[in-house]
Amino acid sequence: MKEIIKKAVIPVAGFGTRLLPATKSQPKEMLPIVDKPAVQYVVEEAIKSGAENILFITGRGKRAIEDYFDYAVELEKELEDKGKTDLLDEVRNISEMAKFFYVRQKIARGLGDAINHARGFIDDEYFSVLLADDIIDSEIPCLKQMINVFRNYRGMILAVMEVPRDKTNIYGIVNGKKISDRVYEVSDLIEKPEPEEALSNIAVIGRYILNANIFNAIEETKPGKGGEIQITDAIKSLIGREKIFAYEFKGMRYDVGEKIGFLKANIAYALKREDLGSELKEYLKKIVEETT
Ligand code: G1P
Repeated sequence: MKEIIKKAVIPVAGFGTRLLPATKSQPKEMLPIVDKPAVQYVVEEAIKSGAENILFITGRGKRAIEDYFDYAVELEKELEDKGKTDLLDEVRNISEMAKFFYVRQKIARGLGDAINHARGFIDDEYFSVLLADDIIDSEIPCLKQMINVFRNYRGMILAVMEVPRDKTNIYGIVNGKKISDRVYEVSDLIEKPEPEEALSNIAVIGRYILNANIFNAIEETKPGKGGEIQITDAIKSLIGREKIFAYEFKGMRYDVGEKIGFLKANIAYALKREDLGSELKEYLKKIVEETT
């Protein structure tokens, strides 16, 4: 099994119902966090972590993502003619960041099924999966942190973080033995358990290092939570046959697939910007004072 991780898979077929009506006719992944579509943050994380080939698992209504990572010929010509070279470089760079591939998930059968669409793209090797709803702000990209852990442990790795007990039913929940600072050996996994049946409050966040053995496991996985083929169940079925680790990443995670996470990410990223931060901070102080 090849152990150099150069391929990333980004599932983007989901409907984005938690952000309706904004997502009625546009992909949630294209909604901006400040001035970049959410998906670009995830793509940049993958690239900074060594990914060269990126496969999007798309679906109907997601063509704007393909267009975004393609050349924008007319726009580029316009920017060139007007001498707007900075913008031109920025726009052109987006399409040249990596090699992009696309495959469509025709029926929404769940995250496990979506990832199974990467089968033809992955050889006998390890690869990463990044869920576009999870944007992680950290000094070292989350996936890069995981690859560093991978170099020591050589197994599948799931990014995890502690969540409040009453929130276990929106995450995959891990049970395991802590084997070093921030690393657990996974002994059990449950998708979205109610708090009373949760094994712990350690939740899987949307970053995974998997290998090609996941595909047969997915094929054998029956529909689980919500009637969908869950990646959590497929990974669970490999416990005992594969080494599976959970890694508590360093960084701040935003769930930009829901309204409050989307708003928080916009504010947090804008506050960090040199051109926007101080004015926004003043404004926030003012409206907080006025409304409390
Ligand atoms: C998915 C996974 C879940 C994981 C979560 C992280 O759920 O199925 O195990 O904890 O992503 O964001 P979703 O949020 O897509 O329902």
